Amino acid sequence: MYGGDYNPDQWPERVWIEDIRLMQEAGVNLVSLGIFSWSRIEPTEGNFDFVWLDRIMDMLHEGGIAVDLATASASPPPWLSTAHPEMLPVLADGVKLWHGGRQHYCPSSPVYRDATKRLVEEMAGRYGSHPALAMWHVGNEFGCHVPACYCDVSAEAFRAWLRERYASIEDLNRGWGTDFWSQRYSAWDEVLPPRRTPTWANPSQQLDFMRFSSDELLECYEVEHRVLKEKTPDIPVTTNFMRTFKPLDYWKWAAREDVASIDVYQDPSDPEEGMKSAMSGDLVRSLKGGLPWVLMEQTTSRVNWRPVNVAKAPGQMRLWSYQALARGADGVLFFQWRQSGAGAEKFHSALVPHGPVEFSPVWREAKQLGQELKRLDQVCGSRVRAQVAIVLDWESWWALELPSKPSARVTQTDALEDYYRPLFDANIVADFVRPDSDLAGYRLVLVPNLYLVDDAGAVNLNNFVSAGGTLVMSYFSGIADPFEHIRLGGHPAPFRRMLGLRVVDWLPLADGASTELDFSDGTQGRGDRWSELIQLEGAQAIATFKGTALSGRPAITKHDFGSGLAMYIGTRLDQLAMARLIRRACADASVEPDIDVPAGVEGVRRHAGRRSILFLLNHRDVSVDVPLLEAGVNLIDGSQVHAGLVRLGPYGAAVIREGW
Ligand code: GLA
Repeated sequence: MYGGDYNPDQWPERVWIEDIRLMQEAGVNLVSLGIFSWSRIEPTEGNFDFVWLDRIMDMLHEGGIAVDLATASASPPPWLSTAHPEMLPVLADGVKLWHGGRQHYCPSSPVYRDATKRLVEEMAGRYGSHPALAMWHVGNEFGCHVPACYCDVSAEAFRAWLRERYASIEDLNRGWGTDFWSQRYSAWDEVLPPRRTPTWANPSQQLDFMRFSSDELLECYEVEHRVLKEKTPDIPVTTNFMRTFKPLDYWKWAAREDVASIDVYQDPSDPEEGMKSAMSGDLVRSLKGGLPWVLMEQTTSRVNWRPVNVAKAPGQMRLWSYQALARGADGVLFFQWRQSGAGAEKFHSALVPHGPVEFSPVWREAKQLGQELKRLDQVCGSRVRAQVAIVLDWESWWALELPSKPSARVTQTDALEDYYRPLFDANIVADFVRPDSDLAGYRLVLVPNLYLVDDAGAVNLNNFVSAGGTLVMSYFSGIADPFEHIRLGGHPAPFRRMLGLRVVDWLPLADGASTELDFSDGTQGRGDRWSELIQLEGAQAIATFKGTALSGRPAITKHDFGSGLAMYIGTRLDQLAMARLIRRACADASVEPDIDVPAGVEGVRRHAGRRSILFLLNHRDVSVDVPLLEAGVNLIDGSQVHAGLVRLGPYGAAVIREGW
């Protein structure tokens, strides 16, 4: 799949003819249509105007371009919020958000949900059997601008959600620990969303509200999804996710869609973006259990929403597109096809720029990519294989980052990247898993931080190790239960036996402070952000703290548990020491890199049965020679590649079908 968001309603019809000609020239075969078209499709309540949409659907079909048709629900028309201002979202401090931007709806609003249901019924009825229709695109980036609403309608819905979770108000009082600060509720109607309070709102209440808010948006998706599945059961449904997006529990969401898709907007000024977008790819692939996914949006060059919008270097867009394929995508699309002439995104790059295409290097690169992708059909459907799994749990993430912890500097995304970076540098692919996922297929499980864990998750991780797996866990894991209450009895209570130790106390490090570390193999390292007083109960120290009050005490440990091995890290390691440690864990678990390539080159394989396709991606702006052990065919240009050195230009890519 190759294409982009297409917004023909921003342009007169004569431009559409030109659009289709250019799409064909660029090799576009799929467009996401009508994402923000509600006010054009239903200009006044109940009056639908499909004339223009009929016309462009037909034109696209005649042009050989399939449609990922939006349900158009992402931005409600002004008539709806004018007639029903109670559908507008409200922030925690009572500020109402008005129409004039986009996504101005309360996720719990029956007005909004009913209106989207009517709209989707019309859309599905009209286009369900249109030959251009290839996929449904529900909403757009759910939760991007309004992840939660605190209005009275939401308060009522929150209470209903809580009544499902807690059998009685007394249960809720227990779950929320309301004997603290005189928060005891005597009746359901006293219970509120965590609106702005003089100081910290109850953490268990906040955590439940995050669960509720993710569920409420998911119900908005479901209102539409149900209609689509009833009317067009054979058309796949997706909604576009956003990388490591905190507000939505994407494990739950992905289970409700047929195809996972994601929007990735790398920051070209960040030298680590290659690593970060690889991680996004591994995550979205994992969300649907390894099935191929779609890169639904990326930009051809600049975005418009950073303070300074640095352009992609020539070749970088093509490189990052191939990276998505390498990590399991079967399609690459952009926001957007034609750069807007008006509105808030007119400075956002597109495939077709404001000026004539023939002057645009971005257009040339996009056209080249489109032509190349036509030769990569055999990549589609192939799978990425991983022996390493990284545990990510949204509830734990929410709880970890609630205020009033030992250190606000301990954050989930940093913790994930600290583990992912050395894997990426070593060309070792990782899947993401939930704490309670089936781990049987993995040799190494990494637990960057799992502050909150339920019993099933804890037992599963223990079982993985006792059955022979290798596991690495970092500090401040296993601390809270799903109510965000401390698991008492010595930290980390559910993992103490597995780790063979007891954490007696936490000693977070001040900003800018660090601790030295002495490793038992004679190497040195540093830790920052965190240190802790560890008492060994069977584990062996493989590094000790040095130069602080913890001098000589264990910092990193290992412990044989059942037939496996559990390692524990009691600080945030510097990057070199972390890389050494992950290498060691991989060696213990017999995990080998996919391929040995020079620094700055990414090497990943996709597999289909016994066939393998090797992606080589040069993230550097200079040419590099990569040693190849096996000959093959570079699918991008059909050339034969011999064993020996293969040259990649600056930001160059090769897609090699191994074996002739
Ligand atoms: C998001 C949205 C698009 C557009 C882009 C701009 O991904 O889904 O509609 O606003 O951002 O980068």
